[in-house]
Amino acid sequence: MSTTNAIILNIKPKTLSKNLFLNGILCKTLVFLTLILYLIYLFLSSSSTTTTTSLLQFSPSKNIIKSSKQYYFNSNNIKTNISHLVFGIAASSNTWGKKKHYINSWWKPNITKGYLFLDRTPNDEHLPWPNISPPYRISSDNSRYMPYNKHGMPFAIRMVRVIEETFMEEHDSSTVRWYVMADDDTVLMIENLVNVLSKYDHMKYYYVGMNSECIVSNFGMSFQMAFGGAGYALSYPLAQALAKNMDTCIKRYPYLYGSDHILQACIADLGVTITLEKGFHQIDLRRDISGFLSAHPQSPFISLHHLDLVSPIFPSMNHYDALNHLMKAASVDQSRLLQQSVCYNKIHNWTFSVSWGYSVQIYDKIIPQSYLQTPIETFGEWRKGAWPPYMFNIRKFNNYSSCGEVPNILFFDSFEGTKLNHFVTTYVKKNHRICANNDDDDHSSNGVMKVHVFSPMDKLHVGDGNRKECCDIIQPIGMDSMAIKLRTCMKHEIIA
Ligand SMILES: *[C@@H]1O[C@H](CO)[C@@H](O)[C@H](O)[C@H]1NC(C)=O
Ligand SMILES: *[C@@H]1O[C@H](CO)[C@@H](O)[C@H](O)[C@H]1NC(C)=O
Ligand SMILES: *[C@@H]1O[C@H](CO)[C@@H](O)[C@H](O)[C@H]1NC(C)=O
Ligand SMILES: *[C@@H]1O[C@H](CO)[C@@H](O)[C@H](O)[C@H]1NC(C)=O
Repeated sequence: MSTTNAIILNIKPKTLSKNLFLNGILCKTLVFLTLILYLIYLFLSSSSTTTTTSLLQFSPSKNIIKSSKQYYFNSNNIKTNISHLVFGIAASSNTWGKKKHYINSWWKPNITKGYLFLDRTPNDEHLPWPNISPPYRISSDNSRYMPYNKHGMPFAIRMVRVIEETFMEEHDSSTVRWYVMADDDTVLMIENLVNVLSKYDHMKYYYVGMNSECIVSNFGMSFQMAFGGAGYALSYPLAQALAKNMDTCIKRYPYLYGSDHILQACIADLGVTITLEKGFHQIDLRRDISGFLSAHPQSPFISLHHLDLVSPIFPSMNHYDALNHLMKAASVDQSRLLQQSVCYNKIHNWTFSVSWGYSVQIYDKIIPQSYLQTPIETFGEWRKGAWPPYMFNIRKFNNYSSCGEVPNILFFDSFEGTKLNHFVTTYVKKNHRICANNDDDDHSSNGVMKVHVFSPMDKLHVGDGNRKECCDIIQPIGMDSMAIKLRTCMKHEIIA
């Protein structure tokens, strides 16, 4: 299409200026032929539209033909799937033993495509290289950058060049749509990642990622920067342009400290800006992040990072078991993972806040959604004394707070299978809450030790104008257990 347009546009002025009779005839013939070809093309494409309607239904509406040019390139109209992504993971041989669990937790051999870039040959203990990990490559020699690398951080240069090297390995534009860059301690929810990327046109220039949770880090580097530990995605044309310009970019910014910042500068110089997706998490936080994971932003959950620098995400488990435990819930329904739903038991005046697959918080009073969507500050700031500490609001309480403010917290325990067309997940209380007043009055929710959550088996579409899911309390199914059923909110329902 674009070529035929180009021919028409190019030839017209030429005929007018030269006004050559012969040339005119030639042109008319050409234009005529082009028109015929165009009509044939239109006829063929309209008939193929009818055959692909069933596929179109699953594509986001923005994929529906806007200009004929876009349609030409997307003529197969296939929604982005995992085969269209290539992963580039920066790692180091020395630390791979400690980090491999994070990558292996989400890597799917023969399904995910990509490479782990090491600084040198893996240590003997890792050989022969298992196929449950991404295949490795050794990063190429960076010594040619020495004269320009004034800040003396060769590993930042190596990391930014992982993009170029990943592109060199896989660049068949008929199969690759996105390049996803991650660190060796990034945990990705690939099903959610694929769904999020499928909203965007991979033929355009996209840099999809997220800031740090630490406001001071964003301020110090750039609010326009995707933090690499959280992972980020580059559409094909952007990755291609970066690969082509990588050398000059690196030379232009010898004073930029981190690889993420060098990349952001290169991308800005290509005239491209970041597209923020709230589900990527750098986790520039300390200690217990359960408060954060219990009030996830209303957006698909895409990644976690820094898990070895925070407490295990489930109580009384080590770091690896806690991660695997979360992945159990992820394997049941990634689309709902960490999504918050709030409902009420009006008989007791209790509020239940479910973070699907992770936790249930129970409050002894009625609290609106607007308040509960703010995380409880169970965690600490990334940089001591940094103020303000976070990019989001927080709720605080301590051992002396009134029991109405302090929830009883139950954590994901198991997936029980399906019942009445719903998935059933169970949440169990491990620790008693600590709060100030008369905690054991009749009104207290302390007696609830177990909650069963029934969730629909179809995928939840989060964000993009969709509301949260609502829920109902199903009355006690035992002395100490309750059941909750998630459902679509009613038309004018208010969660308060
Ligand atoms: C993804 O889509 C491509 C067509 O572009 C298809 O060939 C491939 O089988 C699909 N992969 C998966 C895992 O569905
Ligand atoms: C991946 O595919 C190869 C060759 O097709 C096969 O030998 C191997 O067992 C597969 N690996 C897994 C984990 O399925
Ligand atoms: C629940 O709250 C309402 C309104 O504040 C109050 O009238 C009612 O007595 C409370 N019920 C219980 C069981 O505390
Ligand atoms: C709150 O109580 C717990 C358990 O008794 C204790 O470990 C913790 O240090 C207390 N925290 C504060 C801030 O007093």
